[in-house]
Amino acid sequence: MDPVLAYHERSKHHVDRYAPGPDGLDWATQPEPFRRYAGARETELPLLAEDPAVAWSDLFRQDAVPSRRLDRAGIACLLQLSLGLSAWKSYGGNRWALRCNPSSGNLHPTEAYLICPELPGVAAGVHHYCPDRHVLEQRATAPLAWRDGVLVALTGIHWREAWKYGMRAFRYCQHDCGHGLAALAYAAAVLGWPVRLLSDWGDDQIAALVGTDRMTDFAGAERETAEAIVWIGSGAPPAAADVLAALAGAEWAGRANALSPDHRDWPDIPAVAAATCRPADSGAEPVTLPPLPVPAPASTEAAGLLVRRRRSAQAFDGRTAIDAASFLRMLDALLPRAGMPPWSLQAQAPGVHLVLFVHRVTGLEPGIYCLARDAEALPALRAAMRADWLWAAVPGCPAHLPLRLLAPLDARAFAAGVSCHQDIAADSAFSLAMLARFDDIAAAPWRYCERFREAGMIGQALYLEAEAAGLQGTGIGCYFDDAVHRALELDTAVFQDVYHFTVGGAVIDARLGTEAPYAHLGDRPAV
Ligand SMILES: Cc1cc2nc3c(=O)[nH]c(=O)nc-3n(C[C@H](O)[C@H](O)[C@H](O)COP(=O)(O)O)c2cc1C
Repeated sequence: MDPVLAYHERSKHHVDRYAPGPDGLDWATQPEPFRRYAGARETELPLLAEDPAVAWSDLFRQDAVPSRRLDRAGIACLLQLSLGLSAWKSYGGNRWALRCNPSSGNLHPTEAYLICPELPGVAAGVHHYCPDRHVLEQRATAPLAWRDGVLVALTGIHWREAWKYGMRAFRYCQHDCGHGLAALAYAAAVLGWPVRLLSDWGDDQIAALVGTDRMTDFAGAERETAEAIVWIGSGAPPAAADVLAALAGAEWAGRANALSPDHRDWPDIPAVAAATCRPADSGAEPVTLPPLPVPAPASTEAAGLLVRRRRSAQAFDGRTAIDAASFLRMLDALLPRAGMPPWSLQAQAPGVHLVLFVHRVTGLEPGIYCLARDAEALPALRAAMRADWLWAAVPGCPAHLPLRLLAPLDARAFAAGVSCHQDIAADSAFSLAMLARFDDIAAAPWRYCERFREAGMIGQALYLEAEAAGLQGTGIGCYFDDAVHRALELDTAVFQDVYHFTVGGAVIDARLGTEAPYAHLGDRPAV
């Protein structure tokens, strides 16, 4: 069997057996949540004094947001509103940070690097972003010279997730990367900066760029795996070869900290990481996304406020309903279109589609629905699922939204059951399973990661759309893969379930204490 598909098979949760993982949590080896590079020079980033005067609705109107100057304050805003802290929570003597990007188990495997020419207040070179102290650590000083844009690269520390989730952790790292990419796309949109995923870079090139292949700098520390690189700015991105050539004589500084004193190995993870490594110039031409009508945004609140307010619901009230128009609008926002965040970072044709469990949508029958995120995928989805689904048109659905009713029924018990018995999948307004195309993965194994990241981007869009609509969402990485496949009679050679999500009215846990995200930095200057 193909090694990537074999990993996927082995990392499935089953109703009677979870994927191999640790028997319990070994608190003595709990990974430190923040990476540091001791010895690297630091650039302090200013904090936002207030949210930029950009409404959520502005993000979806062409040219509505003026492009902000590319300088230290702009970079600080980009990083704070994407990967920065959003709050500290506390309970029973424990205290933990939350971030604008969510993460499975709040373990945050994703690290970010800024690569830039000299900017006002930021030196030319490679910088690692520390979200807790909101500083850049300068890993490399190099004469990088291009105009009107920066590169941001994401890497993943698999151990952080494997500590809790064992073999399945590789999947969650990809989801988290997708959430991080989408978070960057929304934050860049607040600054009026265009974004583009650079899928011609190979993972080894990204690793060389950010220095995660420098063995001596990681002696005794957990390694990072290159994941993605993004161009942010109005200019044209430099070619990978030119950037790496300019970095050839760079001076490197900093030693990575060890996150845990000891580790348990999950050999399937480095194996699948190696098998899915993207080569340079992998041949995938970026697609031109269709110019669909843009749905009317759900809120005129400040976009930064929604981004910072985003939280995962830990429980839903089992009552709150959403009206059909808001529901359809939310789904519409998931169709990739040109120039609209976060889909400006979708380089390939949509490869992830939704099966929805509608519980409480006023004006729509409860039941199971299917949303093809690309109308051309409808026939393949239909052919891959059980023959007796209805595939009926949905009243009030815009013509360009390929949403179909499969079966009117009460799907609450089913949705919770297949989501590892989590009530959040039943007590919400709706929950869903994401079906990713699997038939082209053996030929291009890095697409496995792409599909999980695309699912993460859908999750991030849903989180923020839910906040904009006055609701909350929660990503669900724990689900019984084959139980879903069996119920849908899904042809798993063509599609597989890769992520669940749920949206509704949250029940807030009043026992948790909340503190401001950067109160610990004292009187750090704000802009
Ligand atoms: C990929 C992914 C999978 C997740 N899976 C679950 C899950 O199965 N159950 C759950 O209650 N929360 C789940 N979450 C929510 C996380 O626990 C949450 O993002 C994290 O605790 C940080 O909290 P925040 O989102 O409020 O910042 C998941 C989040 C992500 C990104």
